[in-house]
Amino acid sequence: MISVADRLHTVEEYYFSRKLKEVNLLKEHGKPIINLGIGSPDLQPPSRVVSAIVDSMHDATAHKYQSYQGLPELRQAMADFYKKHFSVSLSPKTEILPLMGSKEGIMHISMAFLNEGDGVLIPNPGYPTYTSVTKLVGATPLFYDLKEKNNWLPDFVELEKTHDLSKVKIMWINYPHMPTGTVAPNKFYEDVIEFAKRHNILVVNDNPYSFILNQFPRSILKYKNAKDHCLELNSLSKTFNMAGWRVGMVMGKSEYLDSIIKVKSNMDSGMFYGIQKGAIEALNCSDIWYLSLNSVYEKRRTLVWELAEALNCTYDKNATGMFVWAKLPEFVKSEEFIDTVLKNDSIFIAPGTIFGSNGEGYIRFSLCAETEEIEEAIARVK
Ligand SMILES: Cc1ncc(COP(=O)(O)O)c(C=O)c1O
Repeated sequence: MISVADRLHTVEEYYFSRKLKEVNLLKEHGKPIINLGIGSPDLQPPSRVVSAIVDSMHDATAHKYQSYQGLPELRQAMADFYKKHFSVSLSPKTEILPLMGSKEGIMHISMAFLNEGDGVLIPNPGYPTYTSVTKLVGATPLFYDLKEKNNWLPDFVELEKTHDLSKVKIMWINYPHMPTGTVAPNKFYEDVIEFAKRHNILVVNDNPYSFILNQFPRSILKYKNAKDHCLELNSLSKTFNMAGWRVGMVMGKSEYLDSIIKVKSNMDSGMFYGIQKGAIEALNCSDIWYLSLNSVYEKRRTLVWELAEALNCTYDKNATGMFVWAKLPEFVKSEEFIDTVLKNDSIFIAPGTIFGSNGEGYIRFSLCAETEEIEEAIARVK
């Protein structure tokens, strides 16, 4: 038996990978499971996206290796998208790099900028991949608190008091925030850029939820001096229901992107041509797309609020995104609670603790289920 690399002992199998095995086993035993756990969009992408990939199959260059930086038309579409929706001007030649999903970008950025022993500021609660990738590259996660009493925003004064920031190289931020759905105000972006400047930190804003039930999409790159210290990740997974296509992008200063390309060009050989063609169509969608997508999520969210109330939870009606983050009654533990609901009502909900210790006492409902399923869940709980 060949022993595995030491780095493998720093991470565990992804929570959903483990838990879904259990959930699927219950299904096989005939349990009528309603899955409100995972955020995988169940709706279809725009039809023009599907036509574009189908039509592209007979193009002469469709099946070749593709450029490491993506088609120029794709980078142009990404630049136009950022200009239209965020009022951010980016050079399609030097300031945009298409990715196979933003998740791979987290690894590429970490490999490009972190040495063993460097510190990485990670939100608690936050997307678990920031932590596992940090550990896989031998860097050290330093968690910063997000608390409901601070509207799930970091307290920079506290952070500077309580953390040794001398070795910190990267700070992950993610607004609109997953799992809480918090939207950050303008002041937060100004403050985080100042903080990054003071401590010479690269701030990466992971921004895949801007267009889901959110009226004010914001990019960190719009703020003064952002390009010196910040990168932004975005993704087509949630905005266009294209999670399985694996299309994302990283944007920022060309010198930073050159370093990321050094890693990425050694790991893959370009994104499939047809996927790029479909992505261009998605990025060029008119406002009607966003309205119709959000009208579906709005109906689902109203029902999930009802479900949360039926489970004696409270929630914030101003939160955005593809999830409802709900607070359990006092002293109730997240994992025990979701296990009980899974056992008694065959409803799978994500426990807040998978996003960090500050998620204790909370649960996360996904809006990626049809209204009929959510109605059925309400009926079971009531
Ligand atoms: C906060 C956050 N960042 C990144 C991702 C990864 O998205 P992608 O499909 O673009 O890799 C997710 C996916 O769930 C997410 O929740």
